Amino acid sequence: MLARALRHVPPWTIYIVGALPALWMTYQTLTGTIGIDPVRAIEWGLGLWALRLLIATLCITPLRWVGLNLIRFRRQLGLVAFAYVVLHFTAWLTIDMGLRWGQILPDLVKRWYIVVGMAALIMLVPLAVTSNTASIRRLGAKGWNRLHKLAYPATILATVHFMMVGKVYTAEVLIYAGILCALLAVRVGRSVLQWRDGA
Ligand code: HEM
Repeated sequence: MLARALRHVPPWTIYIVGALPALWMTYQTLTGTIGIDPVRAIEWGLGLWALRLLIATLCITPLRWVGLNLIRFRRQLGLVAFAYVVLHFTAWLTIDMGLRWGQILPDLVKRWYIVVGMAALIMLVPLAVTSNTASIRRLGAKGWNRLHKLAYPATILATVHFMMVGKVYTAEVLIYAGILCALLAVRVGRSVLQWRDGA
């Protein structure tokens, strides 16, 4: 029923809905209601939405296996997730570090959670760049699918980064880590079944 209702929703609506948290944060910043530490609140807000959207993107394929086909929204969801990662990184570079390169470069390699976050960001770049029909044609469906499996290690690293930043395991951290573990288990289970049936 949900899939049928969503059939009439154009995929570009994901860009509009996806922009709402960023617009809300902008509004809160401009009205001074974002909190006592605006820099941290912006950084955290963008990072949290990046992670939520990355995990939501990974849910699309398993949902199709259980009959809810949202595949036509996957590209847009992934690109919005990437945009939040880039905004989170940009917020760190600009409002947090103030573009002080002498401090940024040592920080990039010194603080482990930054190294892990950076690795996740770097892994997501080829995925964002190839999220178009021309790249699928160029790489071939098989090659494209293989490349886009990078979304899993990237999201694992992003979750580890989140855990390292918080140091304490709040309910939110555990929920994201739990969903991620379930997604990985479903993926591995399906691959094993396919391999066994093919063997
Ligand atoms: C896929 C990539 C990334 C994701 C999904 C992500 C997500 C997050 C999340 C969820 C938080 C914690 C928010 C909270 O505690 O409520 C966070 C914090 C943070 N992230 Fe990221 N992040 C990513 C990449 C990066 C990169 C590339 C950098 C910088 C090079 C970075 C720098 C930071 C910093 C400085 C904090 C705040 C630390 C503090 O509270 O002092 N992140 N990130």
